[in-house]
Amino acid sequence: MYLEEKIKNTILLKKNGIRLDKFIKYALFDKDGYYYTKKPIGKNRDFTTSPEISQAFGEIIGQYLFYFWKTKIKSEFNLIELGPGKGTLFSDIANSLEKYSSFFNNSKIFFIEINEELIKNQKKKIKNFKLNKVTWRNRINFQNKIPSIIYSNEFFDCFPVRQFVHKDFWFEKYININNDNNFCFKENMITNKKLLSYLNKYKNNDILEISFERNNYFEKICKYIHKNSGLFFTIDYGYFKKINNFTLQGIQNHKLSNILENVGEKDISSHVNFNDLINIAKKNKLKIEEFCTQKEFFTKFGILERKQYFKKKNNSKEFEDAIDRLIDENEMGNLFKCLVVSNL
Ligand SMILES: C[S@@+](CC[C@H](N)C(=O)[O-])C[C@H]1O[C@@H](n2cnc3c(N)ncnc32)[C@H](O)[C@@H]1O
Repeated sequence: MYLEEKIKNTILLKKNGIRLDKFIKYALFDKDGYYYTKKPIGKNRDFTTSPEISQAFGEIIGQYLFYFWKTKIKSEFNLIELGPGKGTLFSDIANSLEKYSSFFNNSKIFFIEINEELIKNQKKKIKNFKLNKVTWRNRINFQNKIPSIIYSNEFFDCFPVRQFVHKDFWFEKYININNDNNFCFKENMITNKKLLSYLNKYKNNDILEISFERNNYFEKICKYIHKNSGLFFTIDYGYFKKINNFTLQGIQNHKLSNILENVGEKDISSHVNFNDLINIAKKNKLKIEEFCTQKEFFTKFGILERKQYFKKKNNSKEFEDAIDRLIDENEMGNLFKCLVVSNL
């Protein structure tokens, strides 16, 4: 409730409400916001992610990252995970690379994480691995000049978005307070010339959802890789061709939920515009190593063979079902996309 009051007090100082992305930022990243205070991941929490569904997810990513390091870097490097959640992806990668000790011996490990509760989980999860020092940071800001392997799962969907509507003129969605003292959407006409000239490139769209913050964050990564070399790997839900609808959603207890209610109590996310990310990578002279669906990536790198292997070994239906969930086109197979870029 304290967070809602804080946002309302800010809105009261403004004539036209606050921009949607600023509202999302409060809801997720204020010190009383969702990502600072809640434990979001798990069956009995708000959502479940791929590493929590099957260990095969992290094992295959681990093999992929190791192969890249062995063939293209083979020296000291930064191993950086963005938003490691409960630490499951990292621990599955580490398990799958246990016999290749040179990989971890050469790595400076960084976890970029803002949630104190999740950091506790991560520390517990990795304590039994023999690793060089692991450093936690709350933002990406590196001083050293060695190559990097930077990876993430469901990280870029957390960034705040702005929403625009075109009807003769461009309008932007703001959040205001209605007569019942509840949050409500409000559309304000855009007059800022720089923003208008950007939006006018998309005049054929009635609506536009953009995360400038996500794009800036990704650009920073691309510049860093371009300068010091390395690889960036991400999986997230998103799209390539511009879609004519908004994707912003609230999720609480595994169900869709209104983002304007119980602020700070639920996850708010949006689909990643991979077209934007690819353009940014190309602008920064990075090669697109992979851009495909989650199903295509994991099928190409052996998930079905792994399923067969485990079927023979354990005869575990649960294990097979979990793999199917990751790659089934009606579940996570198509919705989630994999993007890998590098300069090596
Ligand atoms: C949707 S969860 C995914 C967690 C994990 N990667 C997984 O697949 O299970 C997003 C993660 O990113 C963290 N996070 C979100 N935005 C962040 C930011 N701007 N900086 C650092 N961490 C962030 C969250 O606390 C959480 O650990």
